[in-house]
Amino acid sequence: MDIELIREEFPILKQKIYGNKQLVYLDNAATTQKPKCVIDSISNFYSVFNSNIHRGVHYLSEKATEIYENARLKVQQFINAKSRTEIVFTKGSTDALNLMAFSFGEAYIKEGDEVIVSEMEHHSNIVPWQLMCQRKKAVLKVIPFDDNGELILSELDKLISEKTKIVCVTYVSNTLGTVNPIETIISKAHSFGIPVLIDAAQAIQHTAIDVQKLDCDFLALSGHKIYAETGIGVLYAKEKYLDEMPPYQGGGDMIKTVSFSGSTWAELPLKFEAGTSNFVGAGSLHTALDYVDRIGLKNIQNHEAELLKYATQKLDEIGNITIYGRAKNKAAAISFNVDGAHHYDVGMILDKMGVAVRTGTHCTEPIMQHFGITGTVRASFALYNTFEEIDILAEAVIRAKKMLC
Ligand code: ALA
Repeated sequence: MDIELIREEFPILKQKIYGNKQLVYLDNAATTQKPKCVIDSISNFYSVFNSNIHRGVHYLSEKATEIYENARLKVQQFINAKSRTEIVFTKGSTDALNLMAFSFGEAYIKEGDEVIVSEMEHHSNIVPWQLMCQRKKAVLKVIPFDDNGELILSELDKLISEKTKIVCVTYVSNTLGTVNPIETIISKAHSFGIPVLIDAAQAIQHTAIDVQKLDCDFLALSGHKIYAETGIGVLYAKEKYLDEMPPYQGGGDMIKTVSFSGSTWAELPLKFEAGTSNFVGAGSLHTALDYVDRIGLKNIQNHEAELLKYATQKLDEIGNITIYGRAKNKAAAISFNVDGAHHYDVGMILDKMGVAVRTGTHCTEPIMQHFGITGTVRASFALYNTFEEIDILAEAVIRAKKMLC
């Protein structure tokens, strides 16, 4: 991978901020920057093809529909789903997880049933399940993690019971960077006939995913984490579940017939795509996935692993830095605090030196509660980050430490 050539493709990375500071973008877990091919595809769509999908008989509508449905085929191929009907476009992974909690809940959950999540879930894989559990009088159970940030799988064995209806777990923690052993979790759950939902929002951009090989039942992902536009995501689900689950939202495109005596639903996957979908976003996702395929996820993964190792080493060398999450298998994100300094103050100083990181709870308050802290500084990496940028991060952290401690 020639990182300098790759960086040429991301116009935003060239800019200087605050007058003369080179932008060092290390907030990739929040959102990734977009390559020129993705930006151009969006502009080209509006310049040449813009029209609503599935609705018109005219040329532009046919073209827009073709772009949207080809994007679905691209996603199917990218995650190796069995059929295009298993790919539901959503607004993002949060939307996909809300769809799941609602529709799965309506189809399969009754009073007293149990849903298992993990202690390291993003709020989007906790709160929708809490809402569903409140509605259905079901119970949410939690797999804890240890102080290294690794799930305690022996606890999962204790949590599974005949009341368990689904296990929902993140592939990669957005805060701790932990890569969870989802193969083991899936096979454990399946041995009891329990389906598994994987939140792949922080995995899809770092590691190749084959849903048939994993045999996960559901998987959620976001386009903007993998170099595509915001507002587009995917729920992958095995067809038998999509057949049995009721629609999440009603409106145009998701129906077969409508009358006041009752309505019937469109074929899969449109039954779950009410209203005007984000067809421009879907096209941008197609372009982004082609781009990632050209670079190669294995190359991306290797490069990011080197960055993570280097960043961990540099931060450890500084001293009086606490890193949260020392799992053996980690991906592309490092959360830390400068001992005695507030994460927000550290983040502000880093920012003034051109380094963009995220501070706070990262939408994972239970992780903060586990460590008894109010937040962390998080640096997260993407394919275009360099070792020099990590040197700049380390220098900025040293400066912040001098100023604050
Ligand atoms: N979930 C995103 C993050 O981790 C926004 O920053």
